[in-house]
Amino acid sequence: MARVLGIETSCDETSAAVVEGTGDDAVMRSLVILSQDAHAVFGGVVPEIASRAHLTSIVPVVRRALDDAGLGPGDVDAIAVTYTPGLVGALLVGVSYAKALAFTLERPLVPVHHLEGHLFAATLEHPDAVPPFTALLVSGGHTMLIDVAGWGDYRLLGATRDDAAGEAFDKVGKLLGLPYPGGRHVEALALDGVAGRYPFTRPMLRQNQRPGDPDYFDMSFSGIKTAVLHAVRHAADPGTTEPGGNGQQQRRADIARGFQDAVIGTLVAKTVRAATAYDRTRIVLGGGVACNRGLSAALTREAATIGAAVFAPTRRLATDNAAMIARAGLFRLGRGETGTLDLNAYASAGLPGLRAA
Ligand code: KG4
Ligand code: ZN
Repeated sequence: MARVLGIETSCDETSAAVVEGTGDDAVMRSLVILSQDAHAVFGGVVPEIASRAHLTSIVPVVRRALDDAGLGPGDVDAIAVTYTPGLVGALLVGVSYAKALAFTLERPLVPVHHLEGHLFAATLEHPDAVPPFTALLVSGGHTMLIDVAGWGDYRLLGATRDDAAGEAFDKVGKLLGLPYPGGRHVEALALDGVAGRYPFTRPMLRQNQRPGDPDYFDMSFSGIKTAVLHAVRHAADPGTTEPGGNGQQQRRADIARGFQDAVIGTLVAKTVRAATAYDRTRIVLGGGVACNRGLSAALTREAATIGAAVFAPTRRLATDNAAMIARAGLFRLGRGETGTLDLNAYASAGLPGLRAA
């Protein structure tokens, strides 16, 4: 049994957690997430502000995670920390603090790739969310379809060629005048929308795509944003009477619904294709967009047609958090993959164990 303290500061949440266990038998002892709300007024994450906020909160957040677990600093066996990808200044705060802790406590330091953390998040709540499985990672920064043959054995099947799915939600949220980050507000607005009134094309999805075609698993979300922009402008025109002759607010909801249905349509179709191609009976979701109930419901429905089960983490574990970092760290620690005190932070770096399809 090993007990790992995880630290995550890659973007705008300062988070610490304790996870303990052996192999896939691991439990979360504590999880603290401090979300920085200062960025909302700027409509996006401001790197300078993020780094400073991490600096002021990292010590109390880690202390709280240990307290919640009923542990002292000396009771942890290793310190896992996100070292990539993310905002370098933000990552550096976590990496520096983790190194200081590892040095003073004389415990191993375990560098964790943020995306590997997202792959492990669901297993903290669903013991069956273990390899082999098809993973759909959908966050504000990433959209990837990965076949997970085993932990550490990843095959990249497809990715977005431009905007990430969450980024598209955020940009569409802005176009619709919603607060940042827009994802959950777009989802809420779409609930009042009528399906089919704005039938946006499902991005990069055609029925005649074949395995081996470069766009069979790939995705793209920047075109639909432009289509939404035109729809919003047209709907705001006082002379506009279609579709349905509805008022402005209803049209905004209809646009949100049309946008969300198109994005979900593409994500679901590509994920089911991937599970079919690799004969997987489990599909694991990760990243902030995994919070979207429309996505998990549609994916669960479609996956059932090929006999696959879908595992989606709850909000705290789907969005950025340190429990998933501690869990991935537990795996890397088990393999003896520890880091040295010259560990650096990187804006981007390859996911360990990831092969091209
Ligand atoms: O994983 P995450 O917390 O941070 C990144 O690593 O990016 O994901 C945040 C993203 C944002 O783009 C946010 O708008 C989106 O996840 N998001 C949602 C929902 N909740 C959060 N997108 C669609 N529907 C939601 N309910
Ligand atoms: Zn993330």
